[in-house]
Amino acid sequence: MHAFHAPGRRQFLGSAGAAALLGAVPALAHAAQGSSANFVPDLELALRAAPDQVGIFRGPATRVWRYHAKVIKGDASAVTTLTDSYLGPIIRVRRGMRVRIHFINQLPQPSVVHWHGMLVPESMDGHPRFAVPPGGQIVYEFEITNRAGTYWFHPHPHGLTGTQVYGGLAGLLIVSDEEERALDLPGGEHDLALVIQDRSFGTDNQLHYVSGGGGMGGMMARMAGFLGGQILVNGRPDAALDVERRAYRLRLLNGSNSRIYKLAWNDGTPMTVIGTDGGLLAEPVTRPYVTLAPAERVELWVDFSVRAAGDELRLQSLAFAAQGGSMMGGMGRMGGGAGALDQGAAFSVLRLHMGPGAAVAGKLPARLARIAPLQPEQAGNLNNPRTFHVTAGGMVWGLNGRVFEMERVADDEVVRLGSTEVWQFVNEAGMGMMGSLPHPLHIHGVQFRVMDRRVHPQATSAWRSLSAGLVDEGWKDTVLLMPGERVRLLLRFADHPGLFLYHCHNLEHEDMGMMRNFLIRA
Ligand code: C2O
Ligand code: CU
Ligand code: CU
Repeated sequence: MHAFHAPGRRQFLGSAGAAALLGAVPALAHAAQGSSANFVPDLELALRAAPDQVGIFRGPATRVWRYHAKVIKGDASAVTTLTDSYLGPIIRVRRGMRVRIHFINQLPQPSVVHWHGMLVPESMDGHPRFAVPPGGQIVYEFEITNRAGTYWFHPHPHGLTGTQVYGGLAGLLIVSDEEERALDLPGGEHDLALVIQDRSFGTDNQLHYVSGGGGMGGMMARMAGFLGGQILVNGRPDAALDVERRAYRLRLLNGSNSRIYKLAWNDGTPMTVIGTDGGLLAEPVTRPYVTLAPAERVELWVDFSVRAAGDELRLQSLAFAAQGGSMMGGMGRMGGGAGALDQGAAFSVLRLHMGPGAAVAGKLPARLARIAPLQPEQAGNLNNPRTFHVTAGGMVWGLNGRVFEMERVADDEVVRLGSTEVWQFVNEAGMGMMGSLPHPLHIHGVQFRVMDRRVHPQATSAWRSLSAGLVDEGWKDTVLLMPGERVRLLLRFADHPGLFLYHCHNLEHEDMGMMRNFLIRA
């Protein structure tokens, strides 16, 4: 009953509304509303979200939505634009810097920008309640207090995040700091950011996304999330890269709506991981493969000097079992139609060609960063963790049986500023039809530590095929909760009071309401 349902398709863009908006850009001077006189930025940018066209394939250009950034004040090299890509810019900042960003919404929909992983005041965090209408603007001002690392920004309007990210709206925010600089890690063109995404294109080269689809099959597909048929790296299909024979730092972001990657080198070389969501690890760790869920980042160190000139090394995603075993098994795709890749399908991600130049052996530092040991005893609720169950009711995913409410927060979603807590996420909803998908859970306003994981004995298939690639070390803002699993996190609410979000970063799940507010009370 499931596999034969043709998902509802629609063309992604091309409405007359989008075109009409292009001419109507309010002058930047008017954006000053909201910026404060006593905030003196080191870097000031204009960031526009607008319809655009990009040549991705031979033939017609692809209509996309895209971020464009322009430096108004400060170092012009702080913004790098990727060529031939729908992706937004890479913005590079240093810890301690103050930034002001004028966001201009030229989309035909409301939008708002979230700085994923960044510790910013609640009014700067891109909560959906701050979304601005088409033609609207917002000014973001914050100081960079995060550790050096790979963060990113993307839209966050409620119910439309999946659509807008899918259309192309995402960019990287790379933070550097003193501690990192002292390490002398590969830099410049040997420090590469790679955003991995999946998309589906029609024969007209246009993006296809899902409008849902009726009936049981459509609903089941919606519950799974979007899976495309084409893998892109930095917006390019069949991605290939020429590299020098020396050490590189690769910053990988899973910018996909729903797809999980099981990343490995094709020749079986273990992966050397030096960083995760919240920056560098205490020391490098190796994995046979790396499991990367939507919104997660991982930084790899790789030494190509051991390879021969002219050789090719491939980064690939290995096959895995995603489901806990249930009806969802055959429902694991939507929107892609013919040629879509199931969750857990194997494919090549990126080909790396070794250049002809002389090999220069790299040196990996044995110690990377100071990271305090995990001290769960600091949590007041260690023996009684705040617990969130993944739930499914009325054909929508929820958290503790609730779905998103724009302004509301429940009594058990209030924490104290300055406190340390254990949060426990549980994905054991009966291990039946709905309890058995992986969910990448993300928490705003903090970077947290992963304490431990426990898996239900009946849910070992996904666990066995993905768990050896989990990197739970270091600081995290997104954690993959596997079918049948419970994960305990240690969080300290030390930074900003206010209303923040926690949600599933499967963007279709998020959009259907698998998201809640929590309040950090001062
Ligand atoms: Cu990257 Cu609330 O999201
Ligand atoms: Cu976030
Ligand atoms: Cu989810």
